[in-house]
Amino acid sequence: MCGIVGYVGWRGAQEVLVNGLRRLEYRGYDSAGVAVVDGTGGLEVHRAAGPLDNLVAVLPEEDVSGTTGMGHTRWATHGPPTDRNAHPHRDVTGKVAVVHNGIIENFAALRAELEAEGVELASDTDSEVAAHLVARAFGADPDAGLTAAVRAVVARLEGAFTLVFTHADRPDEIVAARRSSPLVVGVGQGEMFVASDVAAFIDHTRDAVELGQDQVVTLTADGAVVTDFHGETARTRPFHVDWDIAAAEKGGHDFFMLKEIEEQPASLADTLRGHLVDGRVVLDEQRLSDQELRDIDKVFVVACGTAYHAGLLAKYAIEHWCRIPVEVEVASEFRYRDPVLDRSTLVVAISQSGETADTLEAVRHAREQKARVLAICNTNGAQIPRESDAVLYTHAGPEVGVAATKTFTAQVIACYLVGLALAQTFGTKYADEVAREYAELESSADAVARVLEAVVEPTRALARDLAPSKAVLFLGRHVGFPVALEGALKLKELAYMHAEGFAAGELKHGPIALIEQDLPVVVVMPSPKGRAILHQKLLSNIREIQARGARTIVVAEEGDETVRPFAEHLIEVPAVSTLLQPLVASIPLQVFAAEVARARGYDVDKPRNLAKSVTVE
Ligand code: F6R
Repeated sequence: MCGIVGYVGWRGAQEVLVNGLRRLEYRGYDSAGVAVVDGTGGLEVHRAAGPLDNLVAVLPEEDVSGTTGMGHTRWATHGPPTDRNAHPHRDVTGKVAVVHNGIIENFAALRAELEAEGVELASDTDSEVAAHLVARAFGADPDAGLTAAVRAVVARLEGAFTLVFTHADRPDEIVAARRSSPLVVGVGQGEMFVASDVAAFIDHTRDAVELGQDQVVTLTADGAVVTDFHGETARTRPFHVDWDIAAAEKGGHDFFMLKEIEEQPASLADTLRGHLVDGRVVLDEQRLSDQELRDIDKVFVVACGTAYHAGLLAKYAIEHWCRIPVEVEVASEFRYRDPVLDRSTLVVAISQSGETADTLEAVRHAREQKARVLAICNTNGAQIPRESDAVLYTHAGPEVGVAATKTFTAQVIACYLVGLALAQTFGTKYADEVAREYAELESSADAVARVLEAVVEPTRALARDLAPSKAVLFLGRHVGFPVALEGALKLKELAYMHAEGFAAGELKHGPIALIEQDLPVVVVMPSPKGRAILHQKLLSNIREIQARGARTIVVAEEGDETVRPFAEHLIEVPAVSTLLQPLVASIPLQVFAAEVARARGYDVDKPRNLAKSVTVE
């Protein structure tokens, strides 16, 4: 997830672009850059690693004369967050510049093709190949125009991308293309914009056009021409933005967290994308041989807070698929109890920030004991992945809200990918079984999108109703147990309400004493089909708490009629496989916590006493 802005018009482009990038910085702050066509056949490019202010510090004080250009704020995927990997990237002549959001899956083959022709690539990114390819296509037939060259190139790309191109010889136009990544056009008076998000241009115009899948747009100061990848005229959707600036950055919501909840279908799809290559699950980085991985006979998962809850789910998948013991432990406890570790132990460290001190120290301890370490992380180049033997990145993009939402579900899907990678290495799953499971994981994005459509509004109404409660309990079994823990953690940290998650079977061993008249109890039901025995047992648990006066809020599979009589409030989620159930079931619990917090008047994005990245033990 990166931020992109492009401009053609009459204002100084540099200032428009920098202001646009400021509004998009929530999409990435690993590096930033701008390219401006100066009208005399030159292309001025400035780039800097780090936040936008680092770029501003290296920009010429006087706006360069150009009125056409583009800018980028990066969330690193391919290549560390350095100056050389910052966008825009150029071709060898320096005439074509490109900015990119997404992942070009076939970039290795394209890179090899270019290198075979003698092209020297100047960065580690997947994006740079697009600049060289467009330069080559344009050079072969300049009269056909930049748009034709872009169309020819994007048709060859696999993966997800928004790309914006400019050419020094075409100072009055920019060309952009999109597939599975966002891109909107802003329509001004004698000026046009493209951006990942309307927030980038809302200062200048509120008239926008949403581009569809696989479309190319050519912008000049007077208008936009939109076609598909084959040059056929394409349909677009014009709309008017009536949000104010603050809301625009948050996608029309009051808080980033609510926007981030909605981004989960995309972050799940992005995290999976490109990890099944020629029938094999591949990680992002692997400094371990297959033999070293095959020698693993025990797995520890270490993480903190929400990431620990994702780790609990890893256990179900890895043990089920690989038949290997998995222990899950909070990172702050792990190294102090002298765990038994050796070369045949794999430690999976999960951390969205990649900087959490407890998890980092657990990684260091594991490595000192010669264990192998695999990191699951949302931050390219962070300390934990740097110190690990293998890395799988979650592609959730930056999470501004302190409470983890989209990074949690992305961690869960990444844990499952690790489970599949291990199963294929150990030979406990055949290639066709791995491919089937992978396809199943891919279906999670649609299932989560359906939950978001169906449950957000009713859950918010329920949350407002229950906001005055003193406490809320959460119960689950099997994969529903980590969901219950996570639902309780979200409510504690956002609404400052006493909340506890329990394995429902433990209820009768103590917690049932907490049940009193009108206490809200959220129950995460397993599927009546996939887990019929557990379903029966949980129904009995609900009866027990209902008999003691609790208000029952039940998250259950659509069509599960048996649960209806026991649910004061029923939240129905789509029927999915057992391992995917935590993904669909945690969405309403995230919405619930955010709305209770809002109803109590708290800042949902910045809960008291908490920080996004905890770099002290
Ligand atoms: C809760 C939350 C925290 C983090 C924990 C680990 O919403 O965000 O519990 O999950 O501090 O952080 P990372 O994943 O950065 O290691």
